[in-house]
Amino acid sequence: MQFKTIIEPFRIKTVERIRLTTPEQREEYLQHAHFNPFLLHSDQVIIDLLTDSGTSAMSSAQWAGIMRGDESYAGASSWLRMEKAVQDLTGCPYILPTHQGRAAEHLLYTRIGGAGKVFISNTHFDTTRANIEFSGATAIDCPIPENSDPALLHPFKGNLDTAKLLENIEKYGPENVAAVVLTVTNNSGGGQPVSMENARQVSEICKKYGIRFILDACRIAENAWFVKHREPGFEHTTYREIAQQMFGLADGCIMSAKKDALVNMGGFLALRDLDLAVQCRTVLIITEGYSTYGGLSGRDMEAIAIGLEEVFEPDYLHYRIKSTEYLAENLHALGIPIMRPAGGHAVYIDARAFYPDIPLDQYPGQVMVCELYRLAGIRCCEIGSVMFGKYDASGQLIPATMDLVRLAIPRRVYTQSHIDYVIETFEELRKHRAKASGFRITYEPPFLRHFTAHFATI
Ligand code: F0G
Repeated sequence: MQFKTIIEPFRIKTVERIRLTTPEQREEYLQHAHFNPFLLHSDQVIIDLLTDSGTSAMSSAQWAGIMRGDESYAGASSWLRMEKAVQDLTGCPYILPTHQGRAAEHLLYTRIGGAGKVFISNTHFDTTRANIEFSGATAIDCPIPENSDPALLHPFKGNLDTAKLLENIEKYGPENVAAVVLTVTNNSGGGQPVSMENARQVSEICKKYGIRFILDACRIAENAWFVKHREPGFEHTTYREIAQQMFGLADGCIMSAKKDALVNMGGFLALRDLDLAVQCRTVLIITEGYSTYGGLSGRDMEAIAIGLEEVFEPDYLHYRIKSTEYLAENLHALGIPIMRPAGGHAVYIDARAFYPDIPLDQYPGQVMVCELYRLAGIRCCEIGSVMFGKYDASGQLIPATMDLVRLAIPRRVYTQSHIDYVIETFEELRKHRAKASGFRITYEPPFLRHFTAHFATI
């Protein structure tokens, strides 16, 4: 018999109190935070769906590993365990530990980027784009066209458009393409998976033109679930083997361990090219720490080695993907416009479709984010014109392709009743829709403005 209840495949051993707040308190907190939930304090939040990054609950095995952490400066046994775990998974010989994903991005993209260079991706994540642009290079997104229609069903909506990739290689010249970066799953493109076939085609194109192929692999295990269940030919391949095959197609990878390594902090850069590894390692030692710990403690590295095993457990991955789908399908049943099919780590709501009367330069995504907090203390993140919007020469907003709101689900943290509370909140949100008003930005920094921008109600 197939049960329809998705049972969490773990028991709870330690609990963390959630402070329940009143609507009046939340209104006050929101105003203090300039209507930017990144500026809220965590104890002002009831359900925190801001990110799935660094918010995992670690297992008892990982906590036991923490106690075993070897804090030696050089050659710690915890480092050797992490190095081996990453080598076995990625097949790359050269592993550089970093304190998180963006540090690995900075090491690699400042080495291979710079003025005149371009990077092409299915969609660059915001820190990826920022690191590339910071180096002086240009980041070009080439998701398949299906990706920009939130309601359209497609099994691998995260794929890179290989025709556009070829066009861009022609346009800029292969010698100027610093790397093709395939983000799996495609976070900024809705958490959608990338097929093995697509990764293979990208790999072949890169080989033909002598271009570096880098995987941004922070959700590679979740991506492997989709490959196994949606792509013919992988029914009998394990999740881990699927991930290994995908890594095998690339010249290297960047991984934020804060996602699919099930830890609170950490990351790495893995490379096949010794020269490039040596160049990056030199900067690693200057900026992050010695090459056998990067910015990490021994205990962090121990937990990463264990997390990289646990994340491929079939019961875990089944629960993970199915519980994200549970949230998505319940919201869909309520008539909330969401990106379908559900992604791996998050549900993305089409705020533009939910608030058709709010102009794009009044940020419908930010409106939804603030309304969810007001109503129920739910914190989540806008992925739209606040995060990716630019200005034209006259100062007019050039909006992002979509205005999405992301409900990112921390791994092994919330139970089904928490998720049911979120679903109920959306029933309320529908009733309040007509009363919502837009925002203008009153302060913004030059890069990654969504983290610290201030807003005012119009
Ligand atoms: N690449 C992708 C696809 C990511 O989603 C992230 C982080 C990074 C790189 C950078 O890793 O945070 O360890 O420095 N994403 C988080 C998120 C922040 O909320 O989606 P990091």
